[in-house]
Amino acid sequence: MNAMPDPVKAQAAKAPPLLEVKNLSVRFSSPAGEVRAVEDVSFNIGRGESVGIVGESGSGKTVTCMSMMWLLPSPPARYPTGTIRFKGKELDRHREREMQKVRGSGIGMVFQNSRLSFNPGYRIGSQVNETLRVHLGKEWKKELPRVIEMLRYCNISEPERVLRSYPHEVSGGVAQRVSIALALLIKPELLIADEPTTALDLLSQLEVLRLLERVRKETSCSLVLVSHDLAVVRRVADRVIIMYAGRVVEEGPTADIFADPKHPYTQGLLASTAQKEEGERLYELPGHPPDLAALPQGCSFRPRCVHAFAKCLTMPELLPAGPERVARCHLLDAGREAAHHG
Ligand SMILES: Nc1ncnc2c1ncn2[C@@H]1O[C@H](COP(=O)(O)OP(=O)(O)OP(=O)(O)O)[C@@H](O)[C@H]1O
Ligand code: SF4
Ligand SMILES: [Mg+2]
Repeated sequence: MNAMPDPVKAQAAKAPPLLEVKNLSVRFSSPAGEVRAVEDVSFNIGRGESVGIVGESGSGKTVTCMSMMWLLPSPPARYPTGTIRFKGKELDRHREREMQKVRGSGIGMVFQNSRLSFNPGYRIGSQVNETLRVHLGKEWKKELPRVIEMLRYCNISEPERVLRSYPHEVSGGVAQRVSIALALLIKPELLIADEPTTALDLLSQLEVLRLLERVRKETSCSLVLVSHDLAVVRRVADRVIIMYAGRVVEEGPTADIFADPKHPYTQGLLASTAQKEEGERLYELPGHPPDLAALPQGCSFRPRCVHAFAKCLTMPELLPAGPERVARCHLLDAGREAAHHG
């Protein structure tokens, strides 16, 4: 006989994920032709979950994140397909007022290279105030006492001095932590951090990572952490999504992907990460990502893949690759067929 269902668990299972991205495709027009920046990307972010999005430069990570908040100006971006649902409700990119509300309290974003997202001509404090005013409306002044508190929470030891400073007067690490503090002040249910450690020195990278780990432990907010570095997301993410040439090529629980990467691209990324961690001569994946305006026939990774075979001239689907895992590679099918005939 079946055990009695736990009503709380059953309710949680029924609740929609916090964020659902479905069949998202984003293209740009360029003189070289249509740039397929993001192609048929689907994934969910659960409540309280931390997800890493990893891929080389140009793989579509930032375009995907900006699209989650419909923040890409169109044109130049074009959105032929795709839906984004936040707490079960579809986000309509044509309803800018509603989108502003979601950006105000639902989803917070720390942009790639935060220092550039500050206006160099204004003190950091006045930009913090302006952001709070825009996001929180009439209530913004009530949050002012929390600004200092939140900057301290984000390991800024002299918050008053930082607020009086212009962006060029603080280090990249401090600017990044101010951005995270600012994103947290609007109490988002989902925080998207796009390459928050890139362009920082090693010490600042560690500080920002520790801060994100702390945010994870101490708040119930979900986190999307974008990086080209698997080692960075390993510390913080429960689940990893690997992107290549605008597509998801592998997804699964972080520990499982590190223990047994299924996609040849993930295997290559992991090999270079492991060597970097051990301080050995750097292994670099041979070759370069393809030109998104002239993708190769079939699997986009084919020109760099040591396992490529005839079938790879067709694009593989995302296939089941273990519990809660998928990978976009014909080898998975070939393995299944061999097991079937063996
Ligand atoms: N405004 C634009 N016009 C034309 N192409 C664009 C535009 N913005 C992005 N792209 C293209 O979309 C692709 C994906 O870009 P995206 O910024 O998402 O990559 P990324 O994975 O975030 O890379 P990085 O690690 O360098 O930040 C790139 O090839 C880029 O050239
Ligand atoms: S589908 Fe083929 S080319 Fe693509 S990753 Fe798998 S084996 Fe390599
Ligand atoms: Mg980017």
